[in-house]
Amino acid sequence: MALIFRTEFARIAAWREAFKRHMPDLDFRAWDEPGDVADIEFAMVWKPPRGVLRSFPNLKVIFSLGAGVDHLFSDPELPEGVPVVRMIEPELTRGMTEYVVLHVLRHHRRQREMEANQRERKWRQVITPTAPARKVGIMGLGELGATAAKVLAALEFDVAGWSRMGKDIPGVGSFHGAGGLGPFLARSEILICLLPLTPDTEKILNADLFAKLPKGASLINAARGGHQAEEDILAALDSGQLSEVTLDVFQTEPLPAGHPFWDHPKVTITPHNASITDPDSGARRVVENIRRFRRGEPLPNIVDPKAGY
Ligand code: GLV
Repeated sequence: MALIFRTEFARIAAWREAFKRHMPDLDFRAWDEPGDVADIEFAMVWKPPRGVLRSFPNLKVIFSLGAGVDHLFSDPELPEGVPVVRMIEPELTRGMTEYVVLHVLRHHRRQREMEANQRERKWRQVITPTAPARKVGIMGLGELGATAAKVLAALEFDVAGWSRMGKDIPGVGSFHGAGGLGPFLARSEILICLLPLTPDTEKILNADLFAKLPKGASLINAARGGHQAEEDILAALDSGQLSEVTLDVFQTEPLPAGHPFWDHPKVTITPHNASITDPDSGARRVVENIRRFRRGEPLPNIVDPKAGY
């Protein structure tokens, strides 16, 4: 029984060690040394080249290395009938919550302005309201969105979420579906995108959507670059419809050196590192699932191929 592993990050040694710790008898194979492909029953992958997963004849389960699975469903040759499991692990969730809270607080307290003032040796007190007066909106209330929403609510922000079906989270307002989007946006002073990327959510962060936010709202996108119309973000920043944005993800990654986001005074950039799956905790989760699979038990977090998440 072998698991083939692919990452774009230089942490393969840590993953190999983690799998050895959690399941010593698992035959861990790096992507470029697959050996006899007939042995491969499990794949744990990030952005596999198109068509390759289909070439493993005995593949039983595909585990996504990340929470998002668009990198798999964009493969038209993804083997049919092989379940795809999203990565849900506590460290990944924790990391995303930290990222969201950090940047919500930065926007809320207008920290970017304070840093600009410091560079110019300007002593200017910026007075901001406290959390209960700030309306925060989270698009996407899956594991990552729901956890961040709860922590923001615990800080007493006025939090609401928007999702396909609606979610009942104590202390968090719920809007859902196409009909709920307008009212949700109308109240969101700080908007956070943690949606899955699907044909329905592609370029959802566009001029039409920004126009429905209160003037001077801000945006945090830690989901996918495919969610954002980048020209529209620049135009909304220029017009003042958006006051600032924090982006972890981009249409093209790495962000090209000449991109106007790099030195835009109202843009904070992070290099798609809002949260990265932890090898120890991620391998533990996959091993638990392999054991479940062997016992014939259902696996949690299987992606619905029709919904794409
Ligand atoms: C990272 O982008 C992930 O999907 O976890």
